[in-house]
Amino acid sequence: MHVLITGGSSGIGAATAVAYGATGARVTITYNSGEDRAAQVVKRVEQAGGKAAAVRLDLEDHASITTAAEEVGPVDALVANAVRWGTIMPNSVPFEDVPAAEWTAALHANVVGNAVLVGAVLPGMRRNGFGRIVFVSSGAAEEGLPGPGAYGTAKMALHGMARALAWEAGKDGILVNVAAAGFTLTERERPVPQEVADALAARTPTRRLSTADDLAALIVFLGSAANRNLTGEIIRDGSNAGRSAHAL
Ligand SMILES: NC(=O)c1ccc[n+]([C@@H]2O[C@H](COP(=O)([O-])OP(=O)(O)OC[C@H]3O[C@@H](n4cnc5c(N)ncnc54)[C@H](OP(=O)(O)O)[C@@H]3O)[C@@H](O)[C@H]2O)c1
Repeated sequence: MHVLITGGSSGIGAATAVAYGATGARVTITYNSGEDRAAQVVKRVEQAGGKAAAVRLDLEDHASITTAAEEVGPVDALVANAVRWGTIMPNSVPFEDVPAAEWTAALHANVVGNAVLVGAVLPGMRRNGFGRIVFVSSGAAEEGLPGPGAYGTAKMALHGMARALAWEAGKDGILVNVAAAGFTLTERERPVPQEVADALAARTPTRRLSTADDLAALIVFLGSAANRNLTGEIIRDGSNAGRSAHAL
């Protein structure tokens, strides 16, 4: 099993790479600015029992996406996890003050960039008659967040892309799903004040926020042969099953 994980240099992508490694998979992660962090993740994947490599891929630079995909070669699974965050904090910028250029940049990277990436790996999956694609999305897509909306809009577009692809590629043995995270305790999010984390957790069914490892377990299932015939679905993680984001 060869899996390509974009944005594998930190957070959910890094945890997913290590979780795949523990299954003995060959894992290629991509990084954008974090080459050193990616090298550390490669070591962790190998310590977990997998084979690993890292390549640079910038969702904003579509040529870098096709170059990376060519370098990586055929893959059995793609985890489209990388994100250009842009301006997403609730109310940090009023909607009407978000310039058109920010909308263009967010959609160019997070929607068109992922379409280019899928287009690059799909022919190999079709030839093999097997493929698993997992888009990593957010509660910001379906629930919305107050404030600038380009991030959530781009994530919602990935849901449409997954649905279309599920129909388009299912006959070739390719299953396509979305893992929709809620607020997740990654390195980047952990510094959130405890009272905010508690308020977010209180609005979830399980009264706890997910960790990156929780998401990794879901993604590895969706993106492996263990997923036998589940496709076109938006799977909401426990952190995303309430309206926790609105507590921010
Ligand atoms: N953490 C949460 O609470 C949460 C909640 C809902 C959804 N999600 C989703 O989960 C996924 C992972 O989030 P995370 O919290 O693990 O993020 P993170 O720790 O900030 O990692 C983001 C990853 O994306 C890469 N990246 C950033 N800009 C990029 C670009 N222009 N082109 C290619 N790669 C780029 C980063 O690479 P470098 O560091 O190498 O630059 C990094 O590997 C994202 O899709 C995010 O929307 C996260």
